[in-house]
Amino acid sequence: MESKFIPAILIFCCQNAVASPKKLIETLEHPECIKVVELPCTGKMETIYALKAFEQGIDGVCVVGCREGECHYLEGNLRAAKRVHQMKVILEELSLGKNRVEMLNEDSSAAENFIQSSKDFIGRVQVLGPNPLKHKP
Ligand code: FES
Repeated sequence: MESKFIPAILIFCCQNAVASPKKLIETLEHPECIKVVELPCTGKMETIYALKAFEQGIDGVCVVGCREGECHYLEGNLRAAKRVHQMKVILEELSLGKNRVEMLNEDSSAAENFIQSSKDFIGRVQVLGPNPLKHKP
């Protein structure tokens, strides 16, 4: 019997966008495959962190920030969105697939949205399959 691919996922999450994201992730299937890094704002997420994660074999990276106009640091989420766009271009050039990275904008009062968006993202990465860099030396 063929075993189902369970992707390793890294989530950079703004502390103002989602309350207790690590607890919420525990409600998903295979939470052990999901690492959550909480940030004071997604503007703190540098492209190099995500690219390093891909180099080390992570299958998908999700950046979760506040909704547009609600960033506590004014434009941190907009900067993060630009970085995610740049990463999509790089991932496409490397033939990894642009859909391995995504930016989500959440409202801290809607935990179920975060859970559903995370499930959707994980499902998309699952369809893409393992990161081709995973087994390269
Ligand atoms: Fe949440 Fe900036 S404070 S994305």
